[in-house]
Amino acid sequence: MIGICSNIGVAEAKSSMKRESFGKTEDGRAVDIYTLTNQTGMEVRITNFGGIVVSLKAPDRNGKFDDVVLGYNSIDGYLTNKAYFGALIGRYGNRIAHGQFKLDGKTYNLPKNDGDNTLHGGKVGFNKQLWTAKDVSGSRGQALELTYTSKDGEEGFPGTLTAKVVYTLTDQNELHIDYSATTDKDTIVNLTNHSYFNLAGQGNGDILGHQLMINADRFTPVDQTLIPAGELKAVKDTPLDFTKATAIGARINNDDQQLKFGKGYDHNWVLNGGIASAPRLAAEAYDSTSGRVLRVLTTEPGVQFYSGNFLDGTITGKGGKVYNLRNGFCLETQHFPDSPNHSNFPSTELKPGQMYHTTTIFKFSSR
Ligand code: GLA
Repeated sequence: MIGICSNIGVAEAKSSMKRESFGKTEDGRAVDIYTLTNQTGMEVRITNFGGIVVSLKAPDRNGKFDDVVLGYNSIDGYLTNKAYFGALIGRYGNRIAHGQFKLDGKTYNLPKNDGDNTLHGGKVGFNKQLWTAKDVSGSRGQALELTYTSKDGEEGFPGTLTAKVVYTLTDQNELHIDYSATTDKDTIVNLTNHSYFNLAGQGNGDILGHQLMINADRFTPVDQTLIPAGELKAVKDTPLDFTKATAIGARINNDDQQLKFGKGYDHNWVLNGGIASAPRLAAEAYDSTSGRVLRVLTTEPGVQFYSGNFLDGTITGKGGKVYNLRNGFCLETQHFPDSPNHSNFPSTELKPGQMYHTTTIFKFSSR
């Protein structure tokens, strides 16, 4: 039930979330925005267009709330959103080389939207689809379930894929994202969320001073088109070593081929422990000016740390803030880029009868 009233009759349920209109899609379908709140005052606003996290207000060390994700004021920005601000990404997060992969002996061709490669699900990925929303708030907190059925052959992918994503805001200031999917034919799937964080508050400058720790001893080196070569390389003695918390900006301009290819950080880190049965710590970011801490926990084997290298001041976002180079960073939990073309990477295949399920938690605190 979605509305301003409470869920009377469901003993342990939290009060239901607020739903408001967020405008229309280009073909005139109504888009909504949902406001999830918890008992400590944290607030997350999510639209069913692209499953996008539009705003996320988290407290600093003095209890002051600021919006810590980049985005647009209205639906118009999201309709053309080339930066993927806050969006759910599917059917396949990150790149597939030459827009091509083989499955069960058959070659599939996908639309290329990143040079010769396919990025984030193709030309019209899940970030541009209207999802069906349902309030599934319960004892864990206010929760929004989003479902989307991707047709067999959509953006070149085989199989009808039914994807379900549940966003839950807990009283421990965690945003849980539970992803699941089923298919009616063998296919590939790799879902993630593309929120850009700035723990000093969105639009408040660059993130180069944030301290970052990534729980990974290895990463997947890429070529100049950001396709993994296939190797899992040690981060030790490279500027990609974040095993100990280090400022994002400390080495970002080092004379390093991987950083040149990425125009900064835009790589997949191989999380220690591989695929986890329960979410474990993948990364921690800390902004000493506000004291805000973001911990990312996930069941996924990888995380794409992207340092906002394509932000160039041409986007004006929420509150009229201009997003310049590296004004936000992403920690996109995922299976590795281009996995369908690398048999040594954890498989992204999904077969009929199987259930795809991953969980990622963004946990906010301060110190
Ligand atoms: C991911 C990719 C980047 C870029 C951003 C969106 O992080 O790896 O190269 O495409 O998404 O701009």
